[in-house]
Amino acid sequence: MTTSITMAQYQLAQTYGTPLWIYQGDTISQRIAQLKSFDVVRFAQKACSNIHILRLMKAQGVKVDSVSLGEIERALVAGYQGGREKSEIVFTADLLDERTIERVVELDIPVNAGSIDMLRQLGERNQGHAVWIRINPGFGHGHSQKTNTGGENSKHGIWYEDVPEALAVIQQYNLTLVGFHMHIGSGVDYQHLSSVCDAMVEQVLTSQVDIQAISAGGGLSTPYQEGDAIVDLDHYFSLWDKARQRIAQQLGHSVELEIEPGRFLVAESGVLISQVRAVKSMGSRHYVLVDAGFSDLMRPAMYGSYHQISVLDSHGQIKPMTELQETIVAGPLCESGDVFTQQEGGTVVPRLLPQAQVGDYLVIHDTGAYGASMSSNYNSRPLIPEVLITEGVPQLIRRRQTIEELLALELDL
Ligand code: LLP
Repeated sequence: MTTSITMAQYQLAQTYGTPLWIYQGDTISQRIAQLKSFDVVRFAQKACSNIHILRLMKAQGVKVDSVSLGEIERALVAGYQGGREKSEIVFTADLLDERTIERVVELDIPVNAGSIDMLRQLGERNQGHAVWIRINPGFGHGHSQKTNTGGENSKHGIWYEDVPEALAVIQQYNLTLVGFHMHIGSGVDYQHLSSVCDAMVEQVLTSQVDIQAISAGGGLSTPYQEGDAIVDLDHYFSLWDKARQRIAQQLGHSVELEIEPGRFLVAESGVLISQVRAVKSMGSRHYVLVDAGFSDLMRPAMYGSYHQISVLDSHGQIKPMTELQETIVAGPLCESGDVFTQQEGGTVVPRLLPQAQVGDYLVIHDTGAYGASMSSNYNSRPLIPEVLITEGVPQLIRRRQTIEELLALELDL
């Protein structure tokens, strides 16, 4: 938690301007190393899909999960390959559009199917294609209702009672079943974890099909604030390993165990640096307005997510946590919800912060996951740059979008 602030980061803000994303590659490498017990670590690239981050992952043996045609193309540019038997990419979704079917067939990328219709559409196009089944076990868990991906109030996966029908479709089209996958949401809790491991074993035992692999999905939590649980990786692995062993025993051969984290690998590597542009009081409330908005970091507005905030003075010195002031940190967008200090549901929650002045910098921590990847051009604001620091060396890995680029799609007609 709380990615450390360095003078180098402040200097990068001077060089590239604000707002600016900065990632520490070394933190990502440490997280990858922590997962070495798993046979396959598959990065859910939706968390941070910059091709340079993907290259860093690939260089360290991490495979990739893509959820759109754009993510497949990103993975390819980063050097990942499809291909029968050796695809490093899996495509996970609940539906397939025509252009994506064409591309996964052309590249032989296994499809992790979240609906039976996907299996039919793929089978009609390419008998024998490699597939996984993403099973919704009937329950889920997430840090927010919006990130709970199991149970009947989630659209994701093939309902566990429909697995026999899915298997019949697989047989009908002679699709090649690789494995079963369960991802019940973002944010691990152990009660649900043992249930999901049991559900996976149960599913294999009752389905009586042969599979080569199981995937534990993503969802490993990361601490965003004091008191947040730190995932016990040994315990997590041992529960899934036991499930894998029971399955291997039943099938009479070894079974690969995959994990598919997004946030765990990248959240703590990133910060968003913004500059204070206005300070004002409204009745009893004190507002600090920065040049980053929910068009850059959507998590607080979308889920009420908490991100720690540090204040730097205009020379880059961290302001000590003394003489604190109840502060609402807000952005430039034309919406009252453009506030970084709020709860789920939109209630504004003032934060005790050192007094910030115009020209100071606010560093918003632990924003490496679902930060840049969820950004938008809302209010016609250009996408902001990303810098990756590896072994102390910063590299601009995405430049700031220009206004001309923003308008180009409409003007180039
Ligand atoms: N696998 C599947 C099939 C997923 O749907 C997801 C996340 C992951 C893996 C990775 O989950 P993670 O390890 O990152 O928790 N925008 C939200 C999170 C949405 C996650 C969607 N699916 C956030 O900012 O918290």
